[in-house]
Amino acid sequence: MGRPHALAIPFPAQGHVIPLMELSHCLADHGFKITFVNTDFIHERVMKALPDDSKNKNQIHLVSIPDGMGPEEDRNQLGKLFECVSRTMPSYLEELIEEVNESGKDKITCIIADEHMGLAVKVAKKLGIPQAAFWPTNACLRALIIRIPELIEAGVIDANGMTRKQEMIQLSSTLPVMDTTKLPWHCFDSPMVQQTIFHSLFTNNQAVKDADWLLCNSFYEIEPSAYPLNPNLLPIGPLLAGSRQRQLVGNFWQEDSTCLNWLNQQPACSVIYVSFGSFTVLEESQFHELALGLELTGHRFLWVVRPDLSAGQAATYPDGFQARVADRGKIVSWAPQQKVLAHPSIACFMTHCGWNSTMEGLSMGVPFLCWPYFADQFLNQSYISDVWKVGLRLNSDDNGIISREEVKNKVEEVLGDEKIRERALTLKEMADKSVSQGGSSTKNLNDFVEAMKGK
Ligand code: UDX
Repeated sequence: MGRPHALAIPFPAQGHVIPLMELSHCLADHGFKITFVNTDFIHERVMKALPDDSKNKNQIHLVSIPDGMGPEEDRNQLGKLFECVSRTMPSYLEELIEEVNESGKDKITCIIADEHMGLAVKVAKKLGIPQAAFWPTNACLRALIIRIPELIEAGVIDANGMTRKQEMIQLSSTLPVMDTTKLPWHCFDSPMVQQTIFHSLFTNNQAVKDADWLLCNSFYEIEPSAYPLNPNLLPIGPLLAGSRQRQLVGNFWQEDSTCLNWLNQQPACSVIYVSFGSFTVLEESQFHELALGLELTGHRFLWVVRPDLSAGQAATYPDGFQARVADRGKIVSWAPQQKVLAHPSIACFMTHCGWNSTMEGLSMGVPFLCWPYFADQFLNQSYISDVWKVGLRLNSDDNGIISREEVKNKVEEVLGDEKIRERALTLKEMADKSVSQGGSSTKNLNDFVEAMKGK
């Protein structure tokens, strides 16, 4: 039996590349050879963001294929990206696999594809290669997607995912309640994009439903009633970089590690960590209100301001803001987030509730302040604030703005709530247990590894 060789292929977005890279590192630790396939565009970003000394020193072989979009086209237009990727990538992927398999080196023995890349599962099936589909977010959302035909049948949504009946639905009594006018695909501006995303989610789900393995970055104990609704889905998370953080993480921006030294100088449990992941854009007025809110709290804060966070362009801060907060605020454009969240100085996490950020905050036992932006993030917020009760929601005012006073009040409330902190620590213990020896996620991952080694 030769060495197992997995080809991993994420959807081309930051929140998808990172967890699949983490899974790839785990498999490499188990003796797998890994070929990690990004799109050309993402590959270039990942290589550019890697520190020079680690460019050639990692256990994962990075390759790339085209995504079908022009060099200048906006990859944040998700509807277009979905369309181009599914039209263009299958033939390139097939060519790549054949090239590897004919090279005389280790043949590809399994394909692990993001579930949003159903195309790769189809290619694997065509070539007779064992496949695993990887779902990067919560199992509840996947259960909802499986039930799309039922929702259409019941007249809740139409065949394009548009709401026909406004109601609150709950797939099981311990899962979050969902408003049928705010389903994950409804968070996009134009109805056309909403429909494209809706169809992509369902088509991809159909494409992978018979995959040999269905894996997800969650753990059984935080959403047990979602698994009976997801036949054969195995939670293997929370996937974290752990000690692998010094190597390849798959960042699209270069990490600014100066914030770790800064954190070392702050008292324990004193810093608000503010980060909105890779995709969120705040209108300039909202960005200013948040800045003034952080100032108003009087607390220390570490704020990730991506180069395109404020209205998609370089941020302009309120007059004099940076000087006024210089002694207690640190701003970076991209942080080593997992290390930040694990730092004893962190008191709470103001987050857009991306699933990776949610899993990371939960694994570090940090209380949350929820500021969701799109897609699954509203559902993740419900998990955090209503189901697990480890954080609070930030609410908008009548003008749709989260005001500086709301920021200040909720920061005070979450920091003063001992029960939230206790529950966050309990969930941290559960997360630790699931990925330790004998834990539920470890067991699932080991079953997958053994099966793939045996093929
Ligand atoms: C998106 C969706 O929001 C998410 O819900 C979905 O499941 C996957 O794709 P994104 O918006 O980027 O991802 O958020 P998130 O899922 O939180 O992923 C962001 C990742 O970037 C996290 O792993 C986080 O640790 C990392 N990050 C973020 C950094 O390393 N540094 C930063 O400064 C900010």
